[in-house]
Amino acid sequence: MDLQLTEEQVMIRDAARAFAQNEIAKVAAHYDESGEFPYETVKKMGQLGFMGIEVPEAYGGAGLDTIAYVLAMEEIDKVDAAHGTIMSVNNSLFCYPILKYGTETQKQNYVTAVATGEKIGAYSLTEPMSGSDAATMRSRAYRQGDHYVINGAKSWVTNGPAADFVLLFTMTDPERGHRGITAFIIETDQPGFHRGRTEDKLGVRASATCEIHYDNYRCPVENRLGEEGEGFKIAMTVLDSGRIGIAAQALGIAGAAYEASLKYAREREAFGQAIGQFQGIQWKLADMKCRLDASRLLIYQAALAKEAAKTSGARFTTEAAMAKLFASETAMFCAHQALQIHAGMGYSKEMPIERYFRDAKITEIYEGTSEIQRMVIARNELGLR
Ligand code: CAA
Repeated sequence: MDLQLTEEQVMIRDAARAFAQNEIAKVAAHYDESGEFPYETVKKMGQLGFMGIEVPEAYGGAGLDTIAYVLAMEEIDKVDAAHGTIMSVNNSLFCYPILKYGTETQKQNYVTAVATGEKIGAYSLTEPMSGSDAATMRSRAYRQGDHYVINGAKSWVTNGPAADFVLLFTMTDPERGHRGITAFIIETDQPGFHRGRTEDKLGVRASATCEIHYDNYRCPVENRLGEEGEGFKIAMTVLDSGRIGIAAQALGIAGAAYEASLKYAREREAFGQAIGQFQGIQWKLADMKCRLDASRLLIYQAALAKEAAKTSGARFTTEAAMAKLFASETAMFCAHQALQIHAGMGYSKEMPIERYFRDAKITEIYEGTSEIQRMVIARNELGLR
C-alpha cells in the first residue's frame, strides 16, 4: 500500500524516530525499572509537538492529521511503550474530546497547556466495579447552584499520578443508565481530589496509573464537557479514536520485537550456522512480518476512516476496533516469538525483549479488551446496534 505520505507526515515521523532513538532509548530501561514518571522527556515531547499532534496550531498543537499521529506513535512505541502510553492519553483521550465537544474557553484553558507539554491530562471512565461494562458506574455528581458536587472512586487512571487535569465520566442521573452519565474536566489541585495508590504494573511501568477518590469535589458548571447525559457517547466516541492510537502503539512494540529478531537471526549461530538458516526460525519471522504488515494496513484504514469522518460525521467504530484487536494480538505474538528466538538472551534484562513482552500485554487490555473489540465488531456487522 503506497500511502503517499505528505511532507509534514514524513517530518513528524522522522522527528519522532530521532527523538525516540536519541532521547528515550537511553532512559527507557531506567524508568521501566523504577516506575517513575518521566517528566523530563515528556516535557520535551510536548515542546516538539508530540502531545498534540492533531491539535490545531492555534491551541498549541502540531496541526496534523491522524496518519501523522499513528506514524509518530509507532516510532515512539518502538523504543518505549510507556512514553507512548503517556503520549496517547494526552493526544487521544484528553485533547481530542475537548477539541470535539468543548467550549472555546475549555479549549484555551485545557487543550493548549496539555498539547504543549506544560501540563498532563488523563481520562477517567473505569471504576473498581465497572471496567468493560463501563455504563455501570457508581460514582455520582449532583448539581448545586453553579457547581456539581462529585463523590466516588475511579480506578486505572493512566497518567493519574501526574495529571493536572482529568476528563472524568460520572453519573448525574442514575435512573437513566448510560444516558445519565456526564463528562467533566477536573482540575486536580482542588479540594476533594485525592489520589490513591499508584499501581505496581507488569508493563508500561513509567506511565503511572492510580485510583482517584472524589470527596465532595466541587466542579464549576462551566467545566462540564457537553450536556448532561452526553457523557457515555462522548466516552465511546473518544475510545474509537483512542483505539487507533493503541493499535499504533502495538505496531511499534511488534516492529521492535521483529527487527531485533531479524538481527539476532542473522548474528547468532548454532550447529555451525546462523539461526536464521533454520526453517523453525524462518517460519516465526515470516509469520511476524505478515501480521505486522496486516496490522499496519488496518491501522491506516482506521486512520483514514477517522479522517473521512471529519466531513461525513460517520462512525469509525468497527475500523478502530479491528485495528486495535489485530495489532495488539500481533504485538503479543511478535513479542512472544522474539523471546523464543532470543531464548536466554531474551529472558534477560540485558536486552529489551523481555520489556517488549511485558509492555505488549496491556495493548490487549486497555481502551477495551480484545473480547470487547470482538463484541463491538460483531455487533456492528450483525446490525445489532
Ligand atoms: N460511538 C458513539 N456512540 C456509541 C458507541 C460509539 N462507539 N458505542 C455505543 N454507543 C452508544 C450506543 O449507540 C447507545 O446509544 P443510545 O443512547 O442511543 O442507546 C449507547 O452508547 C449504549 O450502547 P450499548 O448499548 O452498545 O452499550 P453497552 O453497555 O451494551 O456496551 C460497550 C458498550 C461497547 C461494551 C462499552 O461499554 C465499551 O466499549 N466497554 C469497554 C470500555 C473500555 O474500553 N474501557 C477502557 C477505559 S480507558 C482505559 O483503558 C484506561 C486508560 O486510562 C487508558
